[in-house]
Amino acid sequence: MHTILTSFSGKVIPGKQIGQTIGFQTANLQITSGVPKLSHGVYAVMVNWQDHSYVGLMNIGTQPTFKDNSKTSYEIHILDFNKNIYHETLHVKIYFQIRKEGSFTSISGLVKQIHKDIIHVRKALAPLSQQNHNQLPPTKSENKRVKYDINSLIHLPDLSFVQWFDTEFGINRGVFNTIDAWFYQKGVKQITKRRRYILKFILNLDRHNGKKPKVTFGDGGLIPSLTNFWEITTEDKLKQHA
Ligand SMILES: Cc1cc2nc3c(=O)[nH]c(=O)nc-3n(C[C@H](O)[C@H](O)[C@H](O)COP(=O)(O)O)c2cc1C
Repeated sequence: MHTILTSFSGKVIPGKQIGQTIGFQTANLQITSGVPKLSHGVYAVMVNWQDHSYVGLMNIGTQPTFKDNSKTSYEIHILDFNKNIYHETLHVKIYFQIRKEGSFTSISGLVKQIHKDIIHVRKALAPLSQQNHNQLPPTKSENKRVKYDINSLIHLPDLSFVQWFDTEFGINRGVFNTIDAWFYQKGVKQITKRRRYILKFILNLDRHNGKKPKVTFGDGGLIPSLTNFWEITTEDKLKQHA
């Protein structure tokens, strides 16, 4: 069981708009009630928006990596969330501190660290997000997901497999090849294993952005999405079974 350190509400306001360039969407909050009296750092949070709860990570601090900020900001990255929520009010429960805010010598150093933070929070708050998801009806794409026969798909002839991707998700051969090559250079040499990864990657994205049939990769683009996916599934059963 996790105890709550504190909670507050805030309105989403524009930030420096560089969240996109680092591959993470962040919601910059103007606190409307209950300014958290916590030291600067990154925290595991649950965000309530329109009666749904989401797992997230919040940075409280001055973003020393960018050195152009003297005011304390409250920025949240909500996991598996891709909606425009400018001017919306979020209710945030803060659970625990993951680490202190750091000054990184490169943006890629910061990004790597945030990926690690995400893995940590996903694991720690999984029970809470699970409870929440169980209460929600499955989304259209989750229903659809059940219908895919993964074991048949991974054994399709090459050309059919690529074509199926195009029809199903609007992913053309060029993009498919990029994804395929990316997993290959990660050491997934066997083709059926690689197809499992590709499918799982796409189905995850698909569920997250709900933009079927055309899959988009978020503002960070394809490679950050792949990196994120790879890090999140490091411990995944898929790896043992693939
Ligand atoms: C989970 C999380 C952790 C963060 N950790 C740091 C950090 O350690 N150091 C830092 O300078 N900025 C950190 N940031 C702030 C990012 O630099 C900031 O979100 C990004 O620059 C986007 O800012 P913008 O929304 O104002 O454009 C963190 C942000 C998040 C969401």
